[in-house]
Amino acid sequence: MNKIRAAITGVGGYVPEYILTNKELETMVETSDDWITSRTGIKERRILKGENQGVSVMGIAAVKELLAKTKTDPKEIDCIIFATVTADMTFPATANIVATAVGATNAFSYDMGAACSGFIFALTTGASYIQSGMYKKVIVIGGDKMSSILDYTDRTTCIIFGDGAGCVLLEPSTEEVGVMDSILRSDGGGESYLHMKGGGSRIPASHESVDARQHYVYQEGAAVFKFAVTNMADVSAQLAERNQLTKEKIQWLVPHQANKRIIDATANRVGISEDKVMMNIERYGNTTAGTIPLLLWDYEKRLMKGDNLVLAAFGGGFTWGAVYVKWAYNS
Ligand code: UT7
Repeated sequence: MNKIRAAITGVGGYVPEYILTNKELETMVETSDDWITSRTGIKERRILKGENQGVSVMGIAAVKELLAKTKTDPKEIDCIIFATVTADMTFPATANIVATAVGATNAFSYDMGAACSGFIFALTTGASYIQSGMYKKVIVIGGDKMSSILDYTDRTTCIIFGDGAGCVLLEPSTEEVGVMDSILRSDGGGESYLHMKGGGSRIPASHESVDARQHYVYQEGAAVFKFAVTNMADVSAQLAERNQLTKEKIQWLVPHQANKRIIDATANRVGISEDKVMMNIERYGNTTAGTIPLLLWDYEKRLMKGDNLVLAAFGGGFTWGAVYVKWAYNS
């Protein structure tokens, strides 16, 4: 009997309407469209505005689109995993909120926090449930409302990030398609370079923690950049090599959208030309766990059954990894 694989059978996505351009950022912090474009590749990002609007709003919209597109009855969903570092609340899990809102009343659901690598970690977890034969329909969401944890007086972080969410449906297949292999890594030593200190159990919210701006993203950009370039490229090359994926055999590199220079370095290392690299950083910036599913959402119509995709990410933790996916359908 053929091995059961976890095929991606549909993609959904959502980005908020509000567009925060580099020009508008020029009025908020000392920066320029030129600097942002040349140093990051970002031109604009989406922001979820309004009172009481958590990341669940985007997750729900993305999943509703996915269910409609794939004509899936929400009651058939077994599990929903939401990769995010900007959950609506510390608890309950945002995945619980999404599951109930979309009518997935038979699903168990939980959040996964692996920052920018969250989606590929959750994808590998969801795929394992399917491959084991335990579950038949798993939804994996990646999304973040980064605007909720950004200091809009800090030009080194507020220009990079944006809001958005995407998701995929995983189902069993006995064909040679789906999640084929993955390499996932983490190193807690990255804590000092990229973190949000306030609001957890070590430093609960207090007047002092708010005054010390501890409820915002802190990043030592240049240091993170160096780790990201090396690790994302290394792991992608390693994954390609152990699956005999020569550059001719890879149709798409699907890299986390943190900085165009990191994306270019990863593509160079794997030997992939620019036309085979998915990119939407110029429109959405870095949506943390949202970048990779939003790329799949944007490029879905160009994907063909049998295409070999290498998904790669690096982020807070540090966490990083790469996943080899063989695309399962033509749109
Ligand atoms: O997704 C999670 C993982 N995160 C990443 O992968 C991000 C990795 N890091 C990066 O993408 C880049 O390091 C940044 C885009 C964050 C920064 O770019 P950089 O080329 O590494 O700049 P830098 O931090 O080395 O700063 C260079 C200069 C500094 O000025 P001085 O000290 O040379 O006078 C900064 O103050 O650029 C200045 N600068 C800015 N200037 C205009 C920093 N931010 C800005 C800005 N506008 N927004």
